[in-house]
Amino acid sequence: MTIVITGATGKLGRHVLEVLRERNVPAAEIVAAGRSVEKLDDFAAQGVRVTAMDYDDPASVSAALTGASKVLLIASSEVGKDRPGQHRTVIEAAKAEGVELLAYTSNANAEINATILGVDHKATEAILANSGVPYALLRNGYYFENWTDQIQGTLAQGVLMGSGGNGRVNAATRRDLAEAAVAVLLGEDQAGKTYELGGDVAFTMAEFAAEITTVTRTPVVYRDLPAADYVALLTSFGIPEAFAGILADSDQGLARGDLLVEGNDLRTLIGRPTTTPADAVRAAVSTS
Ligand SMILES: NC(=O)c1ccc[n+]([C@@H]2O[C@H](COP(=O)([O-])OP(=O)(O)OC[C@H]3O[C@@H](n4cnc5c(N)ncnc54)[C@H](OP(=O)(O)O)[C@@H]3O)[C@@H](O)[C@H]2O)c1
Repeated sequence: MTIVITGATGKLGRHVLEVLRERNVPAAEIVAAGRSVEKLDDFAAQGVRVTAMDYDDPASVSAALTGASKVLLIASSEVGKDRPGQHRTVIEAAKAEGVELLAYTSNANAEINATILGVDHKATEAILANSGVPYALLRNGYYFENWTDQIQGTLAQGVLMGSGGNGRVNAATRRDLAEAAVAVLLGEDQAGKTYELGGDVAFTMAEFAAEITTVTRTPVVYRDLPAADYVALLTSFGIPEAFAGILADSDQGLARGDLLVEGNDLRTLIGRPTTTPADAVRAAVSTS
């Protein structure tokens, strides 16, 4: 069996590679594809085939997928580009290769998720539906790390800011989502399955701020901002305006409930309770 991971050079991809190795998948059966392949020297040293691949270069995609039996297509991070077109390149290469399964990292509630990011995932799901490729959908929920990567700044200011209103979300760690992806890649009869992947615990942003307070014993409150003010704040931190707009748009989706995942697909796939908000905060504080 040859399992190809695209976007393997990213943060989710690295977790997936780690989990595959922990599950004793031989390094020789794993192909790790991405652009910044120097990030994967440690996996190359284990015998994983690390290969340069750009979604915008169909020849590199075909070469990376040569011999693949299963593919994990980790969605492109190039927001603003034609991401569905980039994903189509991988899907067409997978079809040409006759893969047994392509698993795609979509996003929560892709059918109704009206965020800017959600629209690209819905379009990719439509391409898959018409592709003839056997596929599974990993509709990944919101990463805890979107907040916890900034934990030190949040603690220093005593304020978590956003535009999510009173919306509820059940975030998940990249690690949990990577374990779910590996369960699907290594599982039987996964073609045609759709997984909505969120954490066991749903919360509002204010509740998450309270959780940060409890875990760190540092008072943190949630300050909700109108979308335009939130964009202005993010741009004042040096975030490009277009990307700030996308982040604010995601928060508006959170406010609407677009990111709230029903069911327990994540817990079921990983075979244990999902990482709690408290544990996500604890891990971030201990590593930052
Ligand atoms: N659920 C959420 O909350 C959430 C949050 C952020 C992102 N996402 C989505 O989930 C995906 C994975 O998350 P992540 O944390 O691993 O993101 P990440 O660390 O930014 O990784 C993105 C990956 O996409 C690859 N990539 C981007 N453009 C590419 C191209 N033209 N050709 C080939 N590879 C390309 C990058 O490759 P190089 O680094 O080698 O260039 C990298 O491996 C993201 O790409 C994004 O679509 C979800």
